[in-house]
Amino acid sequence: MHPATIAVISPLSNQLLDLGQRLKQIPNLGEVITIHGDLQNLPELQDPPDVVIAADPFEEHRSMEALARFGIRYPRTLLVVYSRQNSAEFLMQAMRSGVREVISPEASDALLVETMRRLQSQHHPSKDKEGTVMSFISCKGGGGATFLATNLAYALAAQHEQQVAVIDLNLQYGDAALFVSDQKPSTHLGELSQNTRHLDASLLSAAMLPVLPNFGLLASPEIPALATDIQASQIGTIIRLARSQYDFVILDIGRGLDKVGLTALELSDQMYPVLQNTIPYLRDGKRLVDLLQTIGFASEKIFPVVNRHDRESEITIQHLEKALAKK
Ligand SMILES: Nc1ncnc2c1ncn2[C@@H]1O[C@H](COP(=O)(O)OP(=O)(O)OP(=O)(O)O)[C@@H](O)[C@H]1O
Ligand SMILES: [Mg+2]
Repeated sequence: MHPATIAVISPLSNQLLDLGQRLKQIPNLGEVITIHGDLQNLPELQDPPDVVIAADPFEEHRSMEALARFGIRYPRTLLVVYSRQNSAEFLMQAMRSGVREVISPEASDALLVETMRRLQSQHHPSKDKEGTVMSFISCKGGGGATFLATNLAYALAAQHEQQVAVIDLNLQYGDAALFVSDQKPSTHLGELSQNTRHLDASLLSAAMLPVLPNFGLLASPEIPALATDIQASQIGTIIRLARSQYDFVILDIGRGLDKVGLTALELSDQMYPVLQNTIPYLRDGKRLVDLLQTIGFASEKIFPVVNRHDRESEITIQHLEKALAKK
């Protein structure tokens, strides 16, 4: 088991001291640091700890919100609540905020050790991830690229507990945020790309619209004019950083095979051209798949997807497979 860095945060000095002491007595746990304060007023953590134990009565709505924000801001930190609260409603809310464990101040030493060992086994030393980058490309407007990209992301996060990022690369008319959230993004790709010199993991995660604690979406600029300054190299920097922080980075690159789209494809492990089984899609799907291979992308990375399959259509899956020379 790997030693971990554990931060205890509490507004109560006695509690902080006591819990800090109890943790320090556990052999081979790792480094224990204590922070006097609360989650709501936490200063920026330069080097996020592996585990954060937040001690707070959690009686106010605001402290639950602070928990949820913390989870989004530091997606790789295991979050633990130290509180007497144990109502079903509280536990459900904690779980939704990405909390891994709830420890009661009355827990015995044995129970505390058992819980800490469980957390230790979930923590993997901070080797940067090498997430999978998947891009969804519309062969034709309205095929469902955004629908599939966002729904796949949601399923990976909600059902498979993966850390997922969606980046909306439809720079002119991006709409991916609308598919998964009714919140308005507070920032967007245009602003972030002006800041790539200062870009780091916490700036990236703060720029994401939180959909779930483990699913963030980087929206495209709301006004097309704000997209004109975005450089392909800046997008490359953002995708590479996202890949080091998330298990899956899902790119909605719409119809654009411009410089930004091509950079995104170069960084993609898998490409999913989205089509439907109708004549116009057959034609444009073939064009797109041929073009991708002519540019030099390996055929094994290209996986055409038929969306909204229509059994009645005269164009069958076999026709599409033959035309595209692909499964
Ligand atoms: N499998 C599906 N089931 C139900 N609705 C779908 C499905 N796929 C797409 N849609 C709906 O069809 C519409 C067009 O889909 P979407 O916006 O994802 O297409 P797109 O390929 O991203 O288009 P664009 O090129 O304009 O970005 C949306 O309203 C979407 O909700
Ligand atoms: Mg779209």
